[in-house]
Amino acid sequence: MITKGIILAGGTGSRMSPLTKAVNKQLLPIYDKPLIFYPLSILMLAKIKDILIIINKGQLEQYRKIIPNGDNLGIKITYKEQDKPRGLPDAFILGEKFIEKKNVAMILGDNFFYGQNLSSILLNSSKIKEGAGIFLHKVQNPELFGVAKIDKNKKIISIKEKPKKFISDDAITGLYFFDKNVVNYAKKLKPSKRGELEIIDLLIKYKNKNKLRANFIGRGGAWLDTGSIDDYYKTISFVQAVENRQGLKIACIEEIALLNKWINKEKIKRSIKFYGKCQYSNYLKKLLYK
Ligand code: TTP
Repeated sequence: MITKGIILAGGTGSRMSPLTKAVNKQLLPIYDKPLIFYPLSILMLAKIKDILIIINKGQLEQYRKIIPNGDNLGIKITYKEQDKPRGLPDAFILGEKFIEKKNVAMILGDNFFYGQNLSSILLNSSKIKEGAGIFLHKVQNPELFGVAKIDKNKKIISIKEKPKKFISDDAITGLYFFDKNVVNYAKKLKPSKRGELEIIDLLIKYKNKNKLRANFIGRGGAWLDTGSIDDYYKTISFVQAVENRQGLKIACIEEIALLNKWINKEKIKRSIKFYGKCQYSNYLKKLLYK
């Protein structure tokens, strides 16, 4: 089982400027909670309790206001600042000490996942001992994503970043499981033409060793990258529709911690005080009577 996870929550958020000029993208709201709650909830559903959040230099105070240290969730949260966006694999260079030569999960701070069986898919795929695991989801416009071509046995044949010619409509989402070699592989990467370390180059290293596995979110699940204004609002509408229909919240991190038996109801009461009188606290109050 993977026990450590990194949330990459820095970046410039240039596509969402001016919204992201003063506030980091991951602190913007997705309906009733900050975006960062959603990737955090995914790691928690994978039963990962030791989490490093990588943020931009100078933003620690803001993040600590909403997620202080994980105590309210029965988990450990630490922060590390990235002085400039060097690319996704930089997470493993910055996180070397945190990783402690163990296997590690990484999720992009702006990725939204939801769906049937998601928890069991996560738990099953987190059993990897060796190699790397990616999560694929079908998209209509594969030319905008990193994609993986797979064969009948669900083995990965090739992966390619933003292919101009169609090779597959299975997009590589922003959730990855890696073995401990990821730190050394990341250190050996060279920046691409756009001056960043590229996650696709890291995945290719695993693929070339025949150690890259595909997991599938499936048609019962949703994956949205909230990084453009339109996708951001699509995600908000999605969350609003599901939550209001079912009366259940997506990414209520205290609820997941309680279900995982990482906290007791006393901690929920403390969270209610922390958030104050609001709809989110009203939902937490209902958990006290379950
Ligand atoms: P991107 O969406 O590629 O970059 P961005 O968030 O800066 O947005 P834009 O393209 O509009 O400028 O990044 C994916 C996620 O990873 C996002 O949550 C920010 C984060 N990130 C970092 O924390 N550090 C980095 O070096 C990079 C490249 C991204």
